[in-house]
Amino acid sequence: MSVLVTGGAGYIGSHMVWRLLDAGENVVVIDRLSTGFDWAVPAEVELVVGDIGDPELVGKVPRERGVSAVFHFAGSIVVPESVTDPLGYYLNNTVKSRALLEACVDAGVPHFIFSSTAAVYGTPETADPVAEDAALRPESPYGTSKLMTETMLRDTAAAHPLNYACLRYFNVAGADPAGRTGQSTPDATHLIKVATQAALSKRPYMQVFGTDYPTPDGTCIRDYIHVTDLVDAHYLALEHLRATGENLTANCGYGHGHSVLEVVDVVKRVSGSEFEVRMADRRAGDAVSIVANSDRIRERLGWKPHYDDLEKIVTHALNWEDALSRRNT
Ligand code: UFG
Repeated sequence: MSVLVTGGAGYIGSHMVWRLLDAGENVVVIDRLSTGFDWAVPAEVELVVGDIGDPELVGKVPRERGVSAVFHFAGSIVVPESVTDPLGYYLNNTVKSRALLEACVDAGVPHFIFSSTAAVYGTPETADPVAEDAALRPESPYGTSKLMTETMLRDTAAAHPLNYACLRYFNVAGADPAGRTGQSTPDATHLIKVATQAALSKRPYMQVFGTDYPTPDGTCIRDYIHVTDLVDAHYLALEHLRATGENLTANCGYGHGHSVLEVVDVVKRVSGSEFEVRMADRRAGDAVSIVANSDRIRERLGWKPHYDDLEKIVTHALNWEDALSRRNT
């Protein structure tokens, strides 16, 4: 039997692949390599280059490889891009997930673990950590496209012998501590990636979007979770589904946040680089503060993070960014 990872050549997917190999699982990856890289997939793993929206391909792989679980990471993830290209997001994140789900039902795949997002909540009403039972009011096509897939999963699991975990990610950052993979997309927009690029002179400066928010230092607050702790949570979710068959929707975050300026300070301190930081206007669509209530994942899965430390997250992100420079030159 094997485990299928869609988007396994991408940032989070490639960490998942390594986590599964570490656990002794057989892994097969489907990735169309639009933002991922074939070299990010370990040599011992079969990479099927193709689109999860291709019914023939997704119909074939689960049957031929005896797939017993699917980790579905493939999708589009840039919030502002989803505002200008909503139909592209509904296609990639909703329509293609439907095709994959149908193939899983047809092939009798019992377990499905889905990459969802804190964007399903929209802007929380208070600065308190947001729990899973909070109102679901996505404010972008990205968030809605993911929420639609959560809904499809719920309804499909009620009708067919398939169970699922929807994991709602907060701000994923960092890289494999052993240096095997990391965030490799050169034009990524995420704060820690951008700041590490500035620290290593891969960009001339970075911007801080908005300094007049109602927070202690005026910048937005986010719950940054190390990608290794995130993929550990996924593996625990699989073990939970295998053992209990109980569906689960859970936040993935640590339960506390850091401001943009705190992140910038840590990147400067850890890298020893005094890169230029320009204060800029607010970025459209940014919520002031989004922090996870992580009680459910800790209680239901016994999840214990190992890297709940911004310095470690930044150190691993910097190490990977540095390794990428050597790969590119
Ligand atoms: N930021 C900067 N400068 C940059 C990049 C980001 O100041 O160059 C700021 C943003 O304005 C924001 C914070 O850093 O205040 C975090 O921004 P990111 O782009 O790193 O991440 P987001 O919080 O916008 O988005 C992330 C995920 C989404 C998910 C969302 C849910 O990328 O997929 O969290 O909270 F939907």
